[in-house]
Amino acid sequence: MTFTETLEYTPQIAADTAAQYAKVERVVPKIEWPNFAPYVSAINALKKERNAIILAHNYQTPEIYHCVADFVGDSLGLARKGASVDAEIIVMAGVHFMAETTKILNPEKIVLMPDMDAGCSLAASITAADVRAMREKHPGAPVVSYVNTSADVKAETDICCTSGNAVEVVESLGVKKVIFLPDQYLASYVASQTDVEIIAWPGSCEVHERFTGDEIRDYKKAYDQLSVIAHPECPPDVLEAADFVGSTAGMIDFVGKQSSNKVLLVTECSMSDNVSVEHPDVEFIRPCNLCPHMKRITLPNILESLRTLQPRVEIDPAIIERARGSVERMLAI
Ligand code: 13P
Ligand code: SF4
Repeated sequence: MTFTETLEYTPQIAADTAAQYAKVERVVPKIEWPNFAPYVSAINALKKERNAIILAHNYQTPEIYHCVADFVGDSLGLARKGASVDAEIIVMAGVHFMAETTKILNPEKIVLMPDMDAGCSLAASITAADVRAMREKHPGAPVVSYVNTSADVKAETDICCTSGNAVEVVESLGVKKVIFLPDQYLASYVASQTDVEIIAWPGSCEVHERFTGDEIRDYKKAYDQLSVIAHPECPPDVLEAADFVGSTAGMIDFVGKQSSNKVLLVTECSMSDNVSVEHPDVEFIRPCNLCPHMKRITLPNILESLRTLQPRVEIDPAIIERARGSVERMLAI
């Protein structure tokens, strides 16, 4: 089997996957389903056979998110699930740092990453040596790292955080000043919510940094009663124009709580598709910025990785030992 092999769409496959198609029919055109259905069927059969579980981030495409994932969520939800699953094999339908976090919490399990090149501009923006240099420059200040970092950086970190708990984590330390890395925009958002002094690193998310306050204000002018829900990796003027700021799971939750029938999710494209499936009465205005890393994960490479049990995420045990504390301290909050 190679990534290019085409699996056949038979009447049996159509019948076996009818329930899955019913879930995504509003966001996956009928003409495309014959390309997805054979993979959906093969993946769901093989993961049972192998006692494997698929964790999928909220930015995965609908045919992954709704049709093969066992658990979907934000980085915090995936880390929590990763810490408690029974399965022997975990497939990460997300990006590399998420698979590393899962491996750090489950060193004895097989963690599969269908495409090892699914990186993240934030994780790529900082090295372990950079963190050591920050500590030297700001002696005594604890290091809080966003989970969007490599295992090497986590090993140099006092405590991790995600966009879902960053303020809580910073305040839990009971100190006046923290080093917060690597996202400058999440850092400035946290600084706006706490009295703790935040020393930031100049990293940014290549997807969220492209949104502008002008763009959001234009949408608000064009659509009356528009509810604007933004991810904290966006620049400050975008967040100022938003009605709610939160992690991807927080954003999804807020869609269910707010009352407008017009919603703009200021984040990666697939979120609106995935969330709209559960909110047929809400109209989603879609300022679409794609994450090229998340989009490296596909049904064919998930199937390939379940078949071959490759590529596996492997981390030096000494790094796991040092990185684990920072992730566990976050999960304990
Ligand atoms: P969440 O933890 O909010 O899902 O964010 C992860 C991410 O990569 C956002 O760009
Ligand atoms: Fe990284 Fe941004 Fe992609 Fe999230 S959306 S994985 S932060 S590049």
